[in-house]
Amino acid sequence: MYEDSIFDMRYTDILQNIPKLVKTFNKNGLVIFKELHATEEQQYSILSLFGDVVGWNPNSQNGNLLKNWVRYDETHSVSIDLREKFGPHPLGEQILIHWHLEHVENEVPQVGAAWNMIKNNTTSPDAGSTGFVNCCADNLLPSIEYLEFLRRTTIMCTENPGWEMGWDSATRNSILIHQITGKEVLRLCPLGHTQTVISVDGKPPTPDDQKLMNEITWWFLKTVWDNTNVQFWWNWSVGDMIIPDLTVMAHAVKNGFKHDERRFIGYWAFGDDYEKRMSSQLKT
Ligand SMILES: [Fe+2]
Repeated sequence: MYEDSIFDMRYTDILQNIPKLVKTFNKNGLVIFKELHATEEQQYSILSLFGDVVGWNPNSQNGNLLKNWVRYDETHSVSIDLREKFGPHPLGEQILIHWHLEHVENEVPQVGAAWNMIKNNTTSPDAGSTGFVNCCADNLLPSIEYLEFLRRTTIMCTENPGWEMGWDSATRNSILIHQITGKEVLRLCPLGHTQTVISVDGKPPTPDDQKLMNEITWWFLKTVWDNTNVQFWWNWSVGDMIIPDLTVMAHAVKNGFKHDERRFIGYWAFGDDYEKRMSSQLKT
């Protein structure tokens, strides 16, 4: 279902086809450049040119001035260490990083990224694969009852005992209208933390409201974790670059590689809430 998101293009072709690429990005929630082997400068430029169309930072107007983006160098060493310490992931042997919507609990979460795989010496093709689930309502198909309730509800993440990450959770709408596509996006936490109802129609929730939210959360988790019809897995090659729309794309990473076998450079894109982000102590 994501075949039209996979592009075999060189850097100069990409520069000349940004509107077409962004159209596909908006339709599917990601674009993949196969074996592009982009330099880091090119990676940043592509993310910035996307920013000119979709409105995130970096973009060519203010990317360098505001620096409202984050670069990171990822080998997944922390996750590998945790796995060695605590054993296989609760979701199964094959999972290294649990399904998540990037910092969905945060007041100012990431809205996009460019992930550039610069090293991949894994032995099996699906080692370290990244899975994606598009969380638009028209993809996950919640019942009308669930959808209408979510439209009226604000929530926040309450970390489950024994699984605390020390997050700063903000109150947010359960459903977000995507600023470009206008689609409804389910902004629930696929990690499994409790989604505490803060208000329904602007009023304090009843116990039944929280009960229904727990039911919806469980449906959402089972859909993201287990419904292979909505999952898409990408097996990385060296030089691949992915631009995901992090407002809509939940993602997970498969196990099967060791320290120093895999490395990518990531750039996270943010909205215009730079001041807020700095004060919200975003943890990477
Ligand atoms: Fe992530």
